[in-house]
Amino acid sequence: MTPKTKKKMTVADFKRYKQEGRKFTYVTAYDYTMASIVNESQTEVILVGDSLGMVMLGYASTVPVTLEDMIHHTRPVVRGAPDTFVAGDLPFGSYNVSAEEAVRQVNRLVKETLCDCVKLEGGAEAAETVRAIVASGTPVMGHIGLTPQTAASLGGLKVQGVTPEGARKIIADARALEEAGAFSIVVECVPVALGQALSAAVAVPILGIGAGPHVDCQVLVLQDLLGMYGDLQPRFVRRYANLRADIIRALNQFNEETRNGAFPGPEHCFNHEVALERIY
Ligand code: KIV
Repeated sequence: MTPKTKKKMTVADFKRYKQEGRKFTYVTAYDYTMASIVNESQTEVILVGDSLGMVMLGYASTVPVTLEDMIHHTRPVVRGAPDTFVAGDLPFGSYNVSAEEAVRQVNRLVKETLCDCVKLEGGAEAAETVRAIVASGTPVMGHIGLTPQTAASLGGLKVQGVTPEGARKIIADARALEEAGAFSIVVECVPVALGQALSAAVAVPILGIGAGPHVDCQVLVLQDLLGMYGDLQPRFVRRYANLRADIIRALNQFNEETRNGAFPGPEHCFNHEVALERIY
């Protein structure tokens, strides 16, 4: 059981923090141990992101991730982080058939994991679905700008909203999501000026990942900020640790000490008197 370190944020706190100009942080987690570590930190929000497709499952994109994968990873995170607001991501294919089908999938994710809200990708075109999920009783976090599930239609994993029309569309998307009832909106990979304009355009907080310093909350993938995941190194990531190198160093020391006999030491052994002739 992790010690209680903070008061868990509520949906109402998201808007309040924005009104008070109080910035906050939001990271991903996909398992119990990492969630319990985040829970002991001052981080206010955890996302069980479909980025687990790459970070945990080794896929090349988030597209193959299933609702079962999300349920499997969200449950231990909720158990590990009782004092942290946990968002569960809706995977590709779980909410793009119809609003009714989306509500059915959301009901499963929430009932089987007890996450605090769901997140889904899409702007104005997803507004009807957002409205239906909110009406069914689950808070919704939007996700616009670079939306990795549909990156192929956006021309790949690249900065969005760089033209005036592109920027205007993203602002219209944010307004449509807010109007549909989303309580917060992730904005990924947009120019600094657009991040700032988005934050000014809506009353709900803009949770920025690669969206510059003027948004209301900063989001990072945990393995990126801890320097654990080596496959992709987006420009917007700052590494606050280099755990990949630390882990490799520790494993190599374990290997060396096993080979040279330094491990295990007497303090790691059970030194009960046992008559060997009785064992063999
Ligand atoms: O799945 C994820 O990790 C995300 C973040 C990049 C916001 O959607």
